[in-house]
Amino acid sequence: MNNKKVGIIGVGNVGATLAFNLASKSLCNEIVLKDLRENIVEAMALDISQSANAANSKTKVGFAHNNENFANCDVIVITAGIPRKPGMSRDDLLLTNAKIMTSVINDINEQNPNAIYIIVSNPLDAMVYTALKASKLDKNKVLGMAGILDSARMSHFIFEELGYGEGEIDASVMGGHGDDMVPLANYSTVEGKPLDKILNEEQIEKIINKTRHGGAQIVKLLETGSAYYAPAYSASLMVEAILSNNKKVYPCAVMLEGEYGYEDIVAGVPVRLGKNGVEEVIELKLDEKQTAEFAKSIDSVKELVDTLDTKFFV
Ligand code: NAI
Ligand code: 2OP
Repeated sequence: MNNKKVGIIGVGNVGATLAFNLASKSLCNEIVLKDLRENIVEAMALDISQSANAANSKTKVGFAHNNENFANCDVIVITAGIPRKPGMSRDDLLLTNAKIMTSVINDINEQNPNAIYIIVSNPLDAMVYTALKASKLDKNKVLGMAGILDSARMSHFIFEELGYGEGEIDASVMGGHGDDMVPLANYSTVEGKPLDKILNEEQIEKIINKTRHGGAQIVKLLETGSAYYAPAYSASLMVEAILSNNKKVYPCAVMLEGEYGYEDIVAGVPVRLGKNGVEEVIELKLDEKQTAEFAKSIDSVKELVDTLDTKFFV
């Protein structure tokens, strides 16, 4: 995309893989990387720039050690923070990552007046809430990545169960990015057919359970961090939708203001993405069970936000 600039803050596993994806596909004109680890960020910029050259990509990849060089971005992705370690919940990360999120936003907000922010750091929904508070931006300009990832995981587990459907599985997950996210079987399809018409209740429950624990499964195996290929690819789809203004609908974490009956809380819902960030929140019709599950998921996010409101934003 000509003249489009993407900033990535936090060039660890997710941030570096995201930069590699964007640069390889020539999805923007320029990428600027920023991290506390100055040598690492320089090394990543060189390595990814060289891979972009190998791919004949037009994307320039650089780094910024100071804020002047991190300016006028169209999209800023924040993956700065500490990741989950085995036995650690996403919630354990809350206060540490809220501090990091707030300082990062305060640092770069002013020189990036037109940026749309995509938040990746965990706990995701609470970090989007934190980023909105810190930036004071409109709710359409700050959104979080998790729903695309969780839906991709659900697609993977559907494939595992069925043994067919590669490339033809569309799964749908709503709610907070936590253990009580809401995988939606009746809005998930295989070759266009709704999942609940193909699999029985027991099989669907198994898939839902695996989806809810898909992140933890990888954390346990990796031992030193969390997943990054699928998270980075999912974030790249959001960046692409915003830069190309393609109006695709993806599940993303956004501030709800009346949608689904909730106010002043962030959760994953399907949204239409375009050059203004979140251009529309899509309200799916949920059945009784899904409505109750969504309420439970919202309650979990609320607990974190209440903790932030009493211990952090004071
Ligand atoms: P990582 O540890 O590999 O990278 C984090 C990077 O952030 C490090 O390079 C670190 O130096 C940097 N950093 C920390 N504080 C910073 C600051 N103040 N300014 C600039 N850079 C700073 O972690 P990874 O695996 O890349 O994950 C990043 C975050 O994304 C974690 O919070 C993780 O839990 C979250 N995550 C969220 C997902 C989602 O679905 N929303 C999926 C995967 C990860
Ligand atoms: C994941 O779901 C850790 O949130 C991250 O992989």
